[in-house]
Amino acid sequence: MCGIVAYIGERNAYEIIVKGLKRLEYRGYDSAGVAVLNDSSLRVFKKKGKVSDLENFIGTEKLPSSIGIGHTRWATHGEPNDINAHPHTDSNNKMAIIHNGIIENYSTLKKELTNKGHQFRSETDSEVLIHFIEDIRDNNQCSLEEAVRLALSKIVGAYAIVIVSEDDPNTLIAARKGSPLVIGVGKDEYFIASDATPIVEYTNEVAYLNDYEIAVIKRDKLKIKNIEDVDSNPYIQTIDLELEAIEKGGYEHFMLKEIFEQPRSIADSMRGRLNAEKGYLVLGGIREYSHKLENAERIIILACGTSWHAGLVAEYFFEEFCRIPVEVEYASEFRYRNPVIKEGDVCIAISQSGETADTLAAIELAKSKGAIIFGVCNVVGSSIARASHEGAYIHAGPEIGVASTKAFTSQLTVLFMIAIKMAYNKGTIKEAKYRQMLVELEQIPNKVQQVLENSSEQIELISKIFMFARNFLYLGRGYNFPVALEGALKLKEISYIHAEGYPAAEMKHGPIALIDVEMPVVFIATKDSSYEKVVSNIQEVKARKGKVIAIVTEGDDLIPKMAEYVIEVPSTNEALMPLISVIPLQLLSYHIAVLRGCNVDQPRNLAKSVTVE
Ligand code: G6P
Repeated sequence: MCGIVAYIGERNAYEIIVKGLKRLEYRGYDSAGVAVLNDSSLRVFKKKGKVSDLENFIGTEKLPSSIGIGHTRWATHGEPNDINAHPHTDSNNKMAIIHNGIIENYSTLKKELTNKGHQFRSETDSEVLIHFIEDIRDNNQCSLEEAVRLALSKIVGAYAIVIVSEDDPNTLIAARKGSPLVIGVGKDEYFIASDATPIVEYTNEVAYLNDYEIAVIKRDKLKIKNIEDVDSNPYIQTIDLELEAIEKGGYEHFMLKEIFEQPRSIADSMRGRLNAEKGYLVLGGIREYSHKLENAERIIILACGTSWHAGLVAEYFFEEFCRIPVEVEYASEFRYRNPVIKEGDVCIAISQSGETADTLAAIELAKSKGAIIFGVCNVVGSSIARASHEGAYIHAGPEIGVASTKAFTSQLTVLFMIAIKMAYNKGTIKEAKYRQMLVELEQIPNKVQQVLENSSEQIELISKIFMFARNFLYLGRGYNFPVALEGALKLKEISYIHAEGYPAAEMKHGPIALIDVEMPVVFIATKDSSYEKVVSNIQEVKARKGKVIAIVTEGDDLIPKMAEYVIEVPSTNEALMPLISVIPLQLLSYHIAVLRGCNVDQPRNLAKSVTVE
């Protein structure tokens, strides 16, 4: 979490930084700040609230400057307020730092520095880091670049930092370990940011900084070295990211845009990989290690949040089609156990951002024990993508809304393709079934389009009826059980209504006690192998006067007689149903949140890319 932006060149740094921070607000939005060198003197502005609050605070003051740094914060140490906002400065207010990550040994450092006479204004770990750098520079009488290197070699934790200093007004120093950092390369100018979205407007040429690397950036030169002081050549690559993909395009919220984009984003996940008519399915990123996947004795899926729900659906894919046992692990739990991993075990790490700290740490742990890692990520060049041995991008395009929608359906698309391709190669599904699955998959974008066209208005109406509910229960079985979890998570995240997802049959072991006339129960009750059993569960809820909202397959004439509200979706193979049945749930949470006046794209306390533990 936290977004960082910096610029050095001939343009107005302040304008570029503020625009960039707005693009990165999904990473954190509790306070924001900028520091620019104005006639070689450092000017720092910080404000609690959004980037627009910072802009209002600065007002019309002209800040002509061609070098500067900026930050949008998601608080870790210290409450969100003006003082804890970044940038933070050294004792003399001559240099400033922006930081994304956590300095774990900050309290020891803070004590040592306080004993030496340093005074701190904020409660943040980041301020300690800039004082530590200052202290090293003054004691060793060395350059800032060297002081940063020496300081970072003693830091425990994660960081992406950029530093600007009055003493060297033509240089920015950036470094990373664990938190992302991209450098955009222009002609005699450089753009630095947590991801490429603030950069693509100006250049498509980027260099990704690796862990333990430090960049010394002047207008006309980019020098990279590592923490051991060994130089390396920047590897500059061209990225394919269009500006329109990161703008709202007429929608009121990014989340709504991203929900409606799904017919296209799901098709994009298949593009160039699948041709059902020809029976063609190729995943270019899974080659060298594909036999490891096919012959794995078990698969461990590592993920967090919505990606973990995609992992639960994938468990069913791999077990049903490939007959390989699967364990789906919360990355945060996995990394702190002593998990049993054997040489040759296979892990699939799923992450939209590719930067989630817990998932990344879980991968490193599994790798250290000899596991082969397959990454399923959205953000190209992200840390998880690079830490994986092989993998497949989901190609959903940038997802800005904090609540994940299109990434989930694209993750399912890619995981499904991996599973059936492996199953076909292993011989655990027959050619005819394989071909039929490819055809079904290719039809999904059209079916999602139908749901969006046919159910949006009805869901808006249902949302008006239930917008004041205090609790929701989501129930489903089989492939629709993870969808129930995802529906409940979406509602919690953006509308702040308490919601629980449960396997429908588990209802009788607890949640049934909650059901009364006030309790809306969302059943994902499409026609599949557990349909009859779910119908019985609906009756159990009705008998207790719960209000049933059911997602059913088109043409179902039984459930409409029982449920108060019914939303129809087209039929498909039951394994693919989550791609369709989740759409009404995304819309339901969106409309309820809007009606309740919640900030849909930036829900309180959340961040999109969780780069801290
Ligand atoms: C945060 C986001 C979720 C996301 C989760 C995992 O909690 O708000 O939407 O599902 O992180 O993120 P990842 O980028 O690893 O998929």
